[in-house]
Amino acid sequence: MSDFPKTLELTDGIMVTLELLTDKKLDELIRFYQTLPEKDRLYLRSDITNPENVRRRFGNPDYDTMFPVIGVVNGEIMGIATIFRASFGWMRNLGEVRICIAPEYQKRGLSTLLIRELFFQALKMDLYKLQAEMMDTQQAAINAFKHLGFREEAILPKHVTDIKGVRRDLVIMTLDVEDLWATQEDYVKTPDFRMH
Ligand SMILES: CC(C)(COP(=O)(O)OP(=O)(O)OC[C@H]1O[C@@H](n2cnc3c(N)ncnc32)[C@H](O)[C@@H]1OP(=O)(O)O)[C@@H](O)C(=O)NCCC(=O)NCCS
Repeated sequence: MSDFPKTLELTDGIMVTLELLTDKKLDELIRFYQTLPEKDRLYLRSDITNPENVRRRFGNPDYDTMFPVIGVVNGEIMGIATIFRASFGWMRNLGEVRICIAPEYQKRGLSTLLIRELFFQALKMDLYKLQAEMMDTQQAAINAFKHLGFREEAILPKHVTDIKGVRRDLVIMTLDVEDLWATQEDYVKTPDFRMH
């Protein structure tokens, strides 16, 4: 946790500060979610425009089971990436990744920087695998996660319902933390690390 905050550069040279989310930033996070356009909220798991849902999910964080990193530009949250993990049971070595970037900061490398932090944290949390779930219609997100090193592992037909009530296939994408570390140890340690 002492790794944060840290200031890094986006692909266009703009500086972003990566911080661990704390209760002090919850109101800002609520504002961030409320300004997202419907196209980016359409497929999210729950209604994050409702402040209570955000407080319930992110308030009083236990960093052993939830590790949320925010990207801050000029004092404003522009993205968040989180690992959720079960503290016990057969899924305790699996980390679920959720990520959301403000539209004006998409395609500037912010999710790449955030995922890198989650990857280092996954190693510290002794996670073997990271998993991201999205609907089949989220082609941009599927492509982005592929670029970030994830692969499509399973598709569950008509498994979930979007906020408009339409049933969609669920795509499960995974990244094997141990394999990646074994094959790319030097690569991921460099400051310019980007997975291709
Ligand atoms: C999907 C999302 C997280 C990508 O974040 P981002 O900060 O724009 O991604 P980056 O700029 O770091 O790009 C990562 C890679 O994905 C690629 N990529 C990003 N957006 C893309 C798009 N819309 N279509 C195709 N590829 C894309 C980039 O080219 C990059 O690859 P590269 O490193 O080879 O250049 C972001 O668009 C988002 O928050 N979408 C809305 C919420 C969502 O769908 N979340 C995912 C569900 S968990």
